Amino acid sequence: MLRKSSRPFQTHGREHKTRTKRELMEAFEIGIIGGTGGIGRWFADFFRGEGYTVHVSGRTVGMRLDEMTRTCRVVIVSVPINATAAVIEQVGPKMKEGSLLMDFTSLKEGPVRDMLRCSSSEVMGCHPLFGPDVPSIKGRNIAMCPARIDKWYGWPDDLFRKRGANVFEVTPEKHDRMMSIIQGLNHLDTITMGLALKETGVDLAELKNFTTPFFDTKLAIIEKTCTNNPRLYADIITGNRDILKIIATYEQSLSRIKYLVEKNDAEALAELISSSFE
Ligand SMILES: NC(=O)c1ccc[n+]([C@@H]2O[C@H](COP(=O)([O-])OP(=O)(O)OC[C@H]3O[C@@H](n4cnc5c(N)ncnc54)[C@H](OP(=O)(O)O)[C@@H]3O)[C@@H](O)[C@H]2O)c1
Repeated sequence: MLRKSSRPFQTHGREHKTRTKRELMEAFEIGIIGGTGGIGRWFADFFRGEGYTVHVSGRTVGMRLDEMTRTCRVVIVSVPINATAAVIEQVGPKMKEGSLLMDFTSLKEGPVRDMLRCSSSEVMGCHPLFGPDVPSIKGRNIAMCPARIDKWYGWPDDLFRKRGANVFEVTPEKHDRMMSIIQGLNHLDTITMGLALKETGVDLAELKNFTTPFFDTKLAIIEKTCTNNPRLYADIITGNRDILKIIATYEQSLSRIKYLVEKNDAEALAELISSSFE
């Protein structure tokens, strides 16, 4: 799936022949579909801070797709996961040749495949591994999936790197496999604990008198995950094709622990934990 030019940022076609990388950078405007909220708005602010002209759209406001694809040489899809395929279907065929179609979706296989299928433009999958609550890009991880890249190779990677991000290239398949753990297992565990906590019927206000710093941290994560944008987490979990394997492993671990607890065998449980982390 990774396809990139061996001639980063060299242009082809007579009209581009004399363009340098810098001229190319200065010449384009960026459109973000879904740039009115969430991570799309965060990146709209980021790119504006870097001197770019950025146009955004939401469902009912902002620049229309026709105008965006006419005006912007870079168009980024940053809409909820469940709307991403439909938006790519709409925007892909409108992309001008030589322009760049990107996305910020938390899953990469489906969106990258759809962008390649629906457009003839260059295609770059991108997953910022942080949310819109971070103050800066510095120190943040960003996964890039260059899928059909020639003259856009290096943008926006170089810019992100220049501002201190850890940018790395990965195939969409490997990205999603890793995300089945980083997001799948992680959010699954948080949500399971949140649901179990509710199921106990405990009075959270009263519980807070008894909490430890460790539990406070966990509770804050549960509250953020379960109340902030539950659909995002639900889509991330259900949309990952490796997730059922992860759930099976999770269930197996829980069963082993339950078995040893039922036997009241603390020694074997401790041995299970320590041998797993040797
Ligand atoms: N939030 C994160 O932590 C995070 C991090 C990395 C990647 N991502 C990815 O970024 C994407 C967006 O997530 P988000 O959390 O930023 O979502 P969000 O906060 O819900 O924002 C979604 C944006 O998309 C617009 N939108 C919603 N439905 C649309 C549609 N059918 N057509 C066009 N625009 C639509 C919304 O605009 P209006 O409300 O104005 O209509 C809004 O600007 C997802 O693919 C997600 O996986 C999210």
